[in-house]
Amino acid sequence: MYENIEELKAKVDACKNCKLSSTRKHTVFGEGNIKAEVMFIGEGPGGDEDLQGRPFVGKAGKLMNNAFDVVGIKREDVYIANIVKCRPPHNRDPEQDEIGFCINYLRNQVIIIKPKIIVLLGRISLQTILGKEKMISKSRGIWQEKRGILYMPTWHPAALLRDETKKVDFIYDLKQVVNKLKEIEKN
Ligand code: URA
Ligand code: SF4
Repeated sequence: MYENIEELKAKVDACKNCKLSSTRKHTVFGEGNIKAEVMFIGEGPGGDEDLQGRPFVGKAGKLMNNAFDVVGIKREDVYIANIVKCRPPHNRDPEQDEIGFCINYLRNQVIIIKPKIIVLLGRISLQTILGKEKMISKSRGIWQEKRGILYMPTWHPAALLRDETKKVDFIYDLKQVVNKLKEIEKN
């Protein structure tokens, strides 16, 4: 286990455990408040993220930022990471072996950050964390609890780019997160 987030990030920056290391420009470790109560988990870096080394800075990220503004989430209060830390070529889905090699970094991020709530962005994130049989269309918007952490699965923000009607769901799901956090803080 890693003691701190900087050590863990250094491991990721040097990582060549899977074949994505040979095509990446930058690793995308994740960023945000390491004392965050809410963590967001996406799939993997896209082109913009690969160039900048930061999560959700492209089109999908801008959409997510807008949704954060609508519900009153500040990006600097939360932590944002991905299932895989290097970009899959042509933004294909990460493969099982790549996820298998990478997932321990995310596990350690969760251990260090200790979020109360984790928002799972899209199918890959949902299935990796809560089980392969889960369908995002059926799971989204419904709280699940596992080992003391509350999970809110929702659409991947890139899905909102393709289908505008999903924006309403996405905002609704984020509002549930904000409300749950208020509820937790009262108790
Ligand atoms: N899509 C993701 O899943 N993660 C990012 O960081 C950017 C786009
Ligand atoms: Fe290592 Fe993960 Fe990058 Fe693969 S995707 S090289 S396991 S950091």
